[in-house]
Amino acid sequence: MSQSDGVPVPSHVAIFMDGNGRWAKARGLPRTEGHREGLKAAKRIVLAARNLGIKYLTLYTFSTENWKRAEEEVSFLMGLIKTHLSAELDFYRSNKVRVVHSGDLGGLPKDIVEEIQSVVADTAQNDSITVNLAINYGGRNEIVRAFSRLSERGLALDEKNLGLCLDHPEIPDPDLLVRTSGEKRLSNFLLWQSSYSELVFVSTLWPDFGEEDLAMAIREYQGRDRRFGGLR
Ligand code: IPE
Ligand code: IPE
Ligand code: MG
Repeated sequence: MSQSDGVPVPSHVAIFMDGNGRWAKARGLPRTEGHREGLKAAKRIVLAARNLGIKYLTLYTFSTENWKRAEEEVSFLMGLIKTHLSAELDFYRSNKVRVVHSGDLGGLPKDIVEEIQSVVADTAQNDSITVNLAINYGGRNEIVRAFSRLSERGLALDEKNLGLCLDHPEIPDPDLLVRTSGEKRLSNFLLWQSSYSELVFVSTLWPDFGEEDLAMAIREYQGRDRRFGGLR
């Protein structure tokens, strides 16, 4: 896939990987099995996004509000993230994927922080796609941390400077936000960056989401008329 009626593939796609729990429940399985299957979908979509020519893929992995869940589910998710990052460096290396992180490292267990820092350092030179893992991420939290960086750096308060103090100022704003599982809300994701993103909501549960679903979301995006407040 490249262009459709002259509209290029989005440079940055951000995905709410939602519906793991419902996927498991529908099969009479514990919610944790949905997360295990959701991880497989995430790997599949990283490769699909790269193959489609997407340059940046942000994956909403764990929100600042997800700590409210049962302790058992939270620790399973933390374990899954840690094991994935330590065991699958080869997946990122061999596919030339650069991994970066968005979110509040301060609120994460030390062992997870170390795994994140290590995969980020080990993949820094890769250039096929940048995968931005949003772990302990909240849009409001990111904006508050951006304000504190702004004041540390003694910068004047304006949109440009605040934007430069976000977690990844070098990553362009997402062109397309995709949310799976039928929910239609922002749940504190990329609040600053999504001001002019196109939104696509699909009913598929995240573990069932595949390359063709991503391609369909992109086709829907390519049919939109982005005006950014102006007129054509
Ligand atoms: C998304 O799936 C994964 C995380 C939020 C970590 P959910 O766990 O939210 O699944 P549902 O929405 O309950 O089905
Ligand atoms: C958003 O999904 C967070 C992730 C996908 C990681 P949630 O399932 O946590 O969102 P709500 O609670 O339905 O708004
Ligand atoms: Mg959910």
